[in-house]
Formats: sequence, structure tokens, C-alpha cells
Amino acid sequence: MSRRSFAYWRNHERLSVRSSKIQGSSRKCYCAFLVLAALAGTLFSPFTLAQAATTAADPLLFPRDHFTLETASVKTPAGEKKIVYRSYQHLLYVTKPVDKEYQSLDVKVPVSVDGSNVDATHAPILFVVGVGGYMAASNSRKGGPPGAFGGPGGPGSPNVPFGGLGGPGAPTFPGAASTFGGPEAIQNLALAAGYVIVAPGARGRNNKAADGTYYGKAPAAIVDLKAAVRYIRHNAGVLPGNPDWIVSSGCSAGGGLSALLGASGNSPLYEPYLKEIGAAEAKDNIFASGCGSPVTDLEHADMSYEWAFGGSKWRGGTIDAKVSAALKERFPAYESSLHLIGRDGFGQITVDNLDAYLVQEYLAPSATKYLQGVSDAQRAEYLSKNNWLAWDGKIAKFTYAEYAAEHIKRMKAAPAFDNFNLRSPESNLFGNRTTDARLYTDFSLQWTTGNPNARIEPELQQVVNLMNPMFFIGQKNPDAAAHWWIRHGAIETDSAPTNTVNLALSLENIGRDVNAGIYWEAGHCQDLDPQGFIAWIGKTTGYKQ
Ligand code: DHB
Repeated sequence: MSRRSFAYWRNHERLSVRSSKIQGSSRKCYCAFLVLAALAGTLFSPFTLAQAATTAADPLLFPRDHFTLETASVKTPAGEKKIVYRSYQHLLYVTKPVDKEYQSLDVKVPVSVDGSNVDATHAPILFVVGVGGYMAASNSRKGGPPGAFGGPGGPGSPNVPFGGLGGPGAPTFPGAASTFGGPEAIQNLALAAGYVIVAPGARGRNNKAADGTYYGKAPAAIVDLKAAVRYIRHNAGVLPGNPDWIVSSGCSAGGGLSALLGASGNSPLYEPYLKEIGAAEAKDNIFASGCGSPVTDLEHADMSYEWAFGGSKWRGGTIDAKVSAALKERFPAYESSLHLIGRDGFGQITVDNLDAYLVQEYLAPSATKYLQGVSDAQRAEYLSKNNWLAWDGKIAKFTYAEYAAEHIKRMKAAPAFDNFNLRSPESNLFGNRTTDARLYTDFSLQWTTGNPNARIEPELQQVVNLMNPMFFIGQKNPDAAAHWWIRHGAIETDSAPTNTVNLALSLENIGRDVNAGIYWEAGHCQDLDPQGFIAWIGKTTGYKQ
């Protein structure tokens, strides 16, 4: 145990002893005290008094002894498991919060599984990024069951509806079968494996103060998540779990933020923001990052989308062909600028081999696995409905162009992200204190102003960088997470598979351990292998109970 965490431990123990002394005083006196405490609500309970003293000494000290015991059951490959766990709710993770509802977190610590005791002292910590749509993720209990859609908030939560965004081309989150690393099921799987759960809320693009200013625009969400990671480290030895095994997990915007958390570990660029909210002085790098359907690399997502889906039908009507073509034209230079080297002898990936790379390394193996796993009758039916795909009895064969034209219906107009009417989640994300939404790419600025030399403000460019994992991977951040689990759905069009594959390959190229794949016939955030992710955490950490 480090000296610092030992000091916390001692401090904490002393205060716990004081608490039990209060409980141990004369029965009469204690009963009177309890009556008073009951009357006054929890504020004056013996425990809370100790708690208050503890938090006065260190406002970010994890209240180890202040929990409720809860139970859950979960289906695992080894059958149904009954879990008893300690539940800690709504712990503030910064000392100068802008909004406690969002800058607080929940912790779950497994106590027993099927009646056998679990010691989670050194377990991996699953860090649940519950953000959807780059909206604020509430940590209050108001909005529905904790853990739904990745933890705090959840469907029915006030933070979930789409804040007026919509219309043709608008994304459909978070209603989709959002199951990656978020809902209760995966948290319960993690608890059943003996892992600790930390689920923070975070500010988001829809946070608006009474005076009309916005307080959750970029980079607020990632700053909050980093502050929550720092809270875990700050409480090393007090909060159960191993802070060197923090594994983040989220899908869509949450997947993008999980990737960013993984890629930007310990970057000094966030320091002023972290100081401003009173984040603990601790490291914020993580061990591993789980990214489901990450909506990321927002700066280049429009061109990537047109390259990937420019040849696909649109659900909404007709795409502006000129805009689509102009964006697509910009993609080759970007792809080449990444200097990515593909696996299996592909050499440098450019637009000339990217389509083949996507098919050979991701799409075809995924289709093959799917078709191998179904019955003969199901396969025959599938093939008769999908005659763009050839099946030789063993392997699926098709080209990227066939897949995009025949199997994909894009959901977004062009530009898909930085759309000109400022009604996308992303332009809303890149607003600032006083402006609700801003164009954030040179392309959209140039197109709307008619000025081919227009550039977004350097201040905004810096914020765009702070939201982009590719920025930190490009700089070979030595503190980027060592292990990555990345998944994308084969029929989702919230963002392009090129984005996800570029993320995976750029990480492989800087020597990271990457487990990436595409789930066949899966939509946005659909998680076809939650247990695989949980098992992967066990394998990469080497954790055994
Ligand atoms: C999400 C989906 C989108 O299509 C998008 O542009 C941003 C976020 C989401 O589901 O989180």
C-alpha cells in the first residue's frame, strides 16, 4: 500500500472507530439518539456524522462504510448467478462542481456470488460511460433505473430525449438497442465476475444554466470522466478494486468518449479544465478501453461517411450529391495522412486498398462467422434475400461496393455530422458558454460562407482536438491505454465503419493490444458478445479471484 493510500486508510479507520464508539455508547442514550436521528432524517444518523467528519477532512474520500446491500441476478454461460453487492450512490467526484447531479458517481462492489464470498479488493474496475448522444448523463435517481443505457440516467431519464434535434438525417440514439457495456446486464455480468463498477454521470451539450448559459459543451464530458478516474486513483486502497485496472466501456457517444478516455490518458491539455472543477490531483490514464459503435473522429467523420456510404441509399430521400462528392473528395488525403499500415501484408492503407481491407479483415470474416453459425435452412433463406453476397459453402464473399450499395441504408444526410443547419448533436456539442451550436469543421464553414479559405477559430480547433482520440493516438501518447476492445455493427450508419477501423488500426500501429471486430447484422450499439468483453477483461488483467 502506498504511503498516501495508507494515510487515507488510517484516517478512515479512525473515523469508523469513532462511529462504532457512538454506536457502542449506552443503549438508552443510543436509542434516544436514533429517535432523534430518525426524526431529523439521515442527516444526523450516527453513521452520517462520522461521514461528515470524514468528508470534511477530505471531501473526495470514498465513504467505504456507507453503502446499502443490494441483490441482482444475471444469466451467465455458467448459469444464473445471484449477486449481492454494496451499492454506493451519488458520490461527488470533484470539489468545485458545476452541477452535482452530473458530477457524481455510483459504485458497486460485489460481496458474494451464489453465496460464495467475493473479495474485490484487487479486482478490475469497470468504468461505465453512460453518455448517449453527447447529452449530459445524470447521476441522480430521478430519471429511471441506474445502469440503464450505460449507467446513470437511462431511458426515461430527463437527459435522454433529444432536446429538439431531429428531422431528416437526425440520429436515432439512444433508443436503439443500446446494449454495449451499459445496461444493467453487463454491469451484473461484471459483478458476477467479481469486478467493481464505477458509473459516473457527466455534463453534456444540453446542460443549460438558469441564466441561459451552457455548461456542458465540449470538452466538459471528457473532463468529468477524467475527474471520475482521478477520484478512483485518489481513493486507492479505500475504494475497492485495482486502479491500475480501470477498464472503460460505453457505446456510441459513450464509445467515443471511452476511446478518448483511453487515448488521452494523463494529457496535460485538460489540466486547466480539471483544476477549475476541483478534480483530484492524480493520474487519469486507464488500463483498457471498451468502445462500442464509437461516434468519434468527429472532425473527419463527414468525409469518412461519404466515402463509406456515398453509394448507399438514404432512408430520408435524396442526398445533396454535390456536398457528398465534395466531402468524399477530401477523404483520400486524410486517410493517407494517417500513415496506417494494415495487417496481413496490406502495407500502407489508402483509399485504394481500404475497401479491400475492410472486407478482408472485418466484414467478410464477420459474415462468414454469422453464416456458419445458423442452420442450413436459415442460411439458405439469408442467401436468397442477400444475393449480393456469395457463399461457397465455407466463406462469404463480396466487395465493399456491393455491401454498401445493397446492404446499407444510410441514416444521415450530408454532411452527416457538421451539418449546415447546426441541428446535429455534434455542432451542438461544439457550442460554447453563450452559443448553443457552432460549425466545427473547415469544410462546413467554407461551404456555408462561400469562402474557400475559411478556417474554424484556433480556440475551437483546440476543443475539437480535445474530443478526438485520433489526435492523441497520432501523437503516440505513451499513456494511452494498453488494451482495446472495439466493436461496430455491420448495418449501423450512425457513423462509418472506416472511422472505427481507423481507430483500431492506428492503435495497433502504435503497439497497442487491440481486439476489434464487426458484428454481422448488428445495429448501432448492439452488443452480441457482452460475456466476451467481461472474459477479455479477465484475460488482459490476468485477474483471478
Ligand atoms: C450518438 C448517435 C449519433 O448518431 C451521433 O451522431 C452522436 C451520438 C449516440 O447514440 O450516442
